[in-house]
Amino acid sequence: AQSFAFHGANQAGVFTPQQAAATFAAFDVTAADRAGLVDLFRTLTERARFLTSGGTPQDLGVGSPPSDNAILGPDVPADGLTVTVSVGSSLFDDRYGLAAKKPAKLKPMQTFPDDSLDPKWCHGDLMLQLCANNADTVQHALRDIAKHTRGGMQLRYRINGFHSQPRPSGTPRNLMGFKDGISNPLETDNLIWTPDGGSYQVVRIIRMLVEFWDRVSITEQENMFGRKRDSGAPLDGAAETDTPDFAADPEGKTIPLDSHIRLANPRTTESAPSRLLRRGYNYDLGVDLNGNLDVGLVFCCYQQDLERQFEAVQTRLAGEPLADYIQPYGGGYFYALPGVRDAQDWFARSLT
Ligand code: HEM
Repeated sequence: AQSFAFHGANQAGVFTPQQAAATFAAFDVTAADRAGLVDLFRTLTERARFLTSGGTPQDLGVGSPPSDNAILGPDVPADGLTVTVSVGSSLFDDRYGLAAKKPAKLKPMQTFPDDSLDPKWCHGDLMLQLCANNADTVQHALRDIAKHTRGGMQLRYRINGFHSQPRPSGTPRNLMGFKDGISNPLETDNLIWTPDGGSYQVVRIIRMLVEFWDRVSITEQENMFGRKRDSGAPLDGAAETDTPDFAADPEGKTIPLDSHIRLANPRTTESAPSRLLRRGYNYDLGVDLNGNLDVGLVFCCYQQDLERQFEAVQTRLAGEPLADYIQPYGGGYFYALPGVRDAQDWFARSLT
């Protein structure tokens, strides 16, 4: 079974090619004190180390409840699992005496003009991003971690995501039918990791009003994104990998000035430092109380600096035409911890 290295300077699950299934689980940390918190991070580390490499669960002997729930069978396959651990700014309030250790740029997610945030879907002391090739592997990992960390943290909200297959080729599509995730910086662009090996993570739970969207003409849809629906190509190009030439179209005759890609990444010298790494997943929560589909995007991105990157991009997107068809209602700002370096190291060792 496929397995991603757990030890390293940076965590897996950031530049890792996107697996098919994901869960984003936010927790409130309930550890009694600083020692309990260290315990929590050590246990988290141990479980993540085991789950991401796979193996045979411990035999606790006749008469004991089994150490594993066996939903993946008697042996646990790695199945491409990544466990990415991030912390929210609330972990650094007075509770654990950690104020001085707070990552410099971490703060609570702000409310943007088009948001309708629901407090029960927002923030959290700790965010677990679990991704794997299969949904049962993700659920298994979540249950294993939750069971071993009982008393240390409590689920606050959680949303499952799926990443589609290429249809028919290239970058997978989101639930609006557009290829999503085409333009992303490379690791060598040095825009994502902080000097200590972490990365600021933004999670935004964004509903798509697909009943409305599905009645919009293709031309209007394409103008909203600035890309062609079928190929994913920018409106001035032929292939999804073509780079749009905004400078050649200053009035937005081919690619509208208020299109999503043009606002998100104007491709000027000035806007270059605001590029961020997107790693989002589709979600499907069924139906709302009015009989409308409750589906959308778990937008997730990583960056060195929340203000210079996510907030700058989100501010440029305010009022974009696409905003009428989406509804951000949850999420938070987190700091993905530096990687666990070796068998002696643990998550947040330098913080706690
Ligand atoms: C690009 C969809 C929300 C930032 C794109 C593309 C699509 C898309 C189809 C073009 C293909 C690509 O390069 O991936 C959506 C949808 C959203 C959403 C459906 C909400 C439901 C956001 C948010 C942000 C964002 C909240 C950040 C604040 C970007 C960026 C690009 C992009 C930076 C790449 C632009 C480029 O470099 O050309 N998005 N997006 N998007 N989006 Fe979004």
